[in-house]
Amino acid sequence: MKLACKMSRLGTETAFQVLAKAQALEAKGKDIVHLEIGEPDFDTPSHIREAAKAALDKSATHYCNSQGILPLRTQIAKELEKSRGILIEPERIIVTPGAKPIMFYSILALLQRGDEAVFPSPLYPIYESMVNFSGAKAVPVPLREELGFRFDIKEFKSKITSRTKLVILNSPHNPTGGVLEYDDLRAIADIARDRNIVVFSDEVYESILYEGKHVSIISFPGMKDKTILLSGFSKTYAMTGWRLGYAYMPPELVEPVVRLIANSVSCTAPFIQYAGIQALIGPQDSVQKMVEEFRKRRDLIVDGLNEIPGVSCRKPKGAFYAFPNIKKTGMKSKALAEYLLKGANVATLAGSDFGKYGEGYLRLSYANSRQNLQKAIDRISAALKKAK
Ligand SMILES: Cc1ncc(COP(=O)(O)O)c(C=O)c1O
Repeated sequence: MKLACKMSRLGTETAFQVLAKAQALEAKGKDIVHLEIGEPDFDTPSHIREAAKAALDKSATHYCNSQGILPLRTQIAKELEKSRGILIEPERIIVTPGAKPIMFYSILALLQRGDEAVFPSPLYPIYESMVNFSGAKAVPVPLREELGFRFDIKEFKSKITSRTKLVILNSPHNPTGGVLEYDDLRAIADIARDRNIVVFSDEVYESILYEGKHVSIISFPGMKDKTILLSGFSKTYAMTGWRLGYAYMPPELVEPVVRLIANSVSCTAPFIQYAGIQALIGPQDSVQKMVEEFRKRRDLIVDGLNEIPGVSCRKPKGAFYAFPNIKKTGMKSKALAEYLLKGANVATLAGSDFGKYGEGYLRLSYANSRQNLQKAIDRISAALKKAK
């Protein structure tokens, strides 16, 4: 069978491939510590689960509005108004099965051959994959470890051309745990405001922040109609398997993206959307507890990694990923991740899985118990000693 040429440009997310490899080893009796997959290991809070059950019992089990049910969009709008300090119209909110489809739909709707998309690298791999798939040119800007994994704004500006149509941001950031500062966002807003550039701002980790307050580029003057603000329920409420995400869109993009939904998944399961309303209006203490536990795990894993010769790790300010520098081990990130999986029973991801500027690093998700994190550190340390 001959596939369409464009399929050769579509990448993937290696976390799922490494998970499958690790599970195959487990099936053979190996005891694997999973630091590859990016999902909270906590249960979805019970009031959210109860809301889904109640909605099922009320037969919220049929097709619904492709854009998302109005009560959920209204509640999301209220939350965004509070946190972003701007007027948010429910008519511009789009609900999808998880946050990820918004990347797919927005990039398909916006980009084509001849366009350019500028983004920090490393970055969640689906962005580069989708930009390539669209036929547009991917223009990565390196994140600098010495800047706390932020970009140099002069370097960022130097990549903007008359063909730049999209700038992609992600803060708090996967895979580095870096957080963009107010001045970074202001500088990007200054670049986008007077040009024909849309900013895609991925804020799915907005609640998992260890210091300061989340700042969104959409709150800057002139950015409300130029920003695709992406967020969701997967990370904040430990709802990765439910598939529920949303975006606030520039007016011109709403109809085309809803049309793409109608052409693909039709709509997001309504009983899950009702559970989403409960997540937003219900108690938020589980979110705070989760973040406090992540903070303890972050400190444990970062301190542990910094004890290992050849490895150094900055303290991430958000999300739940450590991104240690492994250049002094003398191994490439893919080879090291493979060695740790086979030789130490620890599943990690190579930095290069997140783009070319991720080489020299590993990504370790610390969404795992402190006991398992300690086990992983001990195993990595022993395996690296043996490799010398
Ligand atoms: C930066 C980033 N954006 C979006 C997503 C996808 O979120 P969802 O599971 O809600 O589709 C992820 C998942 O890991 C992510 O890391």
